[in-house]
Amino acid sequence: MKRILLLLLCCLCFSLNPRIPLIKKPSLRSHLRASDQLEDFLKDHQVDVFSRRYSQCYPPTLVSLKPGKAAERLYNYMDAQYFGLISLGTPGQNFTVVFDTGSADLWVPSFYCVSPACASHHKFKAFESSTYIRDGRVFGIHYGSGHLLGVLAKDLLKVGSLAVENQEFGESVYEPGLSFVMTKFDGVLGLSYPSLSDELGAPVFDNLINQNKVEKPIFSFYLNNSPGKEGELLLGAVDEDLFVRPINWSPVTVKGYWQIKMDAVKVQGTTSFCKADANSCQAVVDTGTSLIAGPAMDILFLQQLIGATPTPFGEFLVDCSRISSLPVISFVINGVEYSLTGEMYVKKDVIGDRGVCFTGFQAVDITSLFGPMWVLGDVFLAQVYSVFDRGQDRVGFARLKARPTE
Ligand SMILES: *[C@@H]1O[C@H](CO)[C@@H](O)[C@H](O)[C@H]1NC(C)=O
Repeated sequence: MKRILLLLLCCLCFSLNPRIPLIKKPSLRSHLRASDQLEDFLKDHQVDVFSRRYSQCYPPTLVSLKPGKAAERLYNYMDAQYFGLISLGTPGQNFTVVFDTGSADLWVPSFYCVSPACASHHKFKAFESSTYIRDGRVFGIHYGSGHLLGVLAKDLLKVGSLAVENQEFGESVYEPGLSFVMTKFDGVLGLSYPSLSDELGAPVFDNLINQNKVEKPIFSFYLNNSPGKEGELLLGAVDEDLFVRPINWSPVTVKGYWQIKMDAVKVQGTTSFCKADANSCQAVVDTGTSLIAGPAMDILFLQQLIGATPTPFGEFLVDCSRISSLPVISFVINGVEYSLTGEMYVKKDVIGDRGVCFTGFQAVDITSLFGPMWVLGDVFLAQVYSVFDRGQDRVGFARLKARPTE
């Protein structure tokens, strides 16, 4: 009887697994475009900034810029659209963050930040929190427009129904340029392996594991586009309501990003990229990236096959009326094919009162020890249920129960 009760209790406490709703908002890119500022913004930011985020993946001799863990992330977040709520301190102060599997750190703006970017966001008031622990060390994260600077602190973090005690995080006191002003998020919560961390101390998910707050050392993302339920991050479990088994697992090949092996990229069923003879290729599964990125040569050829035309902004336009006749692009991972139709990989945006359509593919040259690297961002992740397993160092994809309808 006692054992049953215990079991029941246990089930109860774990049924409180935190579902963190993710909301979808217009990206920074859409805002800049709508307010006619995209061109100026991109002029002020190096075009290679995206790849600098992954600069550590280059052999050091190939990189003229400092290979660092902290590279360009804002440009990357430029298309970010999925955000969720966390709270820091006691009583809790709310922040909207990007849950980013492509970085390890947690940071939010500090009350003492006077940068214009901080004025438009929630700021952490350390003096109002009874659980705040001063650290004093300084941190910096490099962005295209300068360094984001701040001080380290520890405090109580709440994500969903879970609490993490003494979570190390950065309070930014200086956010460079105007680029952060229009972002719809206050900060970033990194979910990668700790080796990508710029801050000292364990990343949030490591603490959740160490403090025995999660049933299993896994977390799962659902990034759908359908109205009603936009997205969900579930810590410690998978949400059986959202996907159909089996889960197709791939081992993590390098424990930094969530990096796995990809067998092939097919266009209309024909293997076109990432061919099996050439050691296949590597893919980073990255919720903080919106698009799908791949080696420049491959992506340029892919855009040709799609019939997309380049813009000066490194984007590729397609005629919106052609979407239904665009080729199917498939990604083969551990023998399973994940196919994206034009409806799934084209992003629509508005200039004035005119709709424009862009492909969701972006050129980025990154090579890892194991070959050229692709980045599977939200465009891909919206079509699958994704599970990140720190216990067995693997990433799993499963078919969604309810396919997005548009
Ligand atoms: C923080 O967000 C939660 C959930 O939306 C809400 O219930 C709470 O009132 C918010 N707290 C503050 C201080 O705004």
